[in-house]
Amino acid sequence: MKILMASDHAGFELKELLAERARESGHEVVDLGPASEDPVDYPDFAHDLARRISAGEAERGVLICGTGIGMAIVANRHPGVRAALCHDAFTAELARRHNNANVLCMGGRTTGSGVAIQMFDIFLATPFDGGRHGLRVQKVEPHKEH
Ligand code: RB5
Repeated sequence: MKILMASDHAGFELKELLAERARESGHEVVDLGPASEDPVDYPDFAHDLARRISAGEAERGVLICGTGIGMAIVANRHPGVRAALCHDAFTAELARRHNNANVLCMGGRTTGSGVAIQMFDIFLATPFDGGRHGLRVQKVEPHKEH
């Protein structure tokens, strides 16, 4: 699977860890930065990744800042992007099964590496349930809500 990844300074370490894991598992990773822990602004990286997901450049994206909150707020402003802020295996699984989330957001300052890896693996491996959830997900886009 092709996966876009980006962070800010607070998510940098976790981004590096997950990118390495994804590459080792045979995924194609596009690292949109940053390249160091120097302070950056999370909206710059979230807009870049979300624009690309919205354009269909990749199937999934991962965004990591301190809490994941800023990344999720920004990414969800882009059409077709369903960014889910997850904190554990359960939220990562349901983000895929019920919400068909295409961007996983997490916090480098709130989530330990063990849980982060678990969420990441689940997010990549879990399919969308479809059915009644498919109809609900269609209504997420404002012009399709009725
Ligand atoms: C950076 O200090 C922090 O505000 C950012 O990483 C993120 O948590 C914002 O939502």
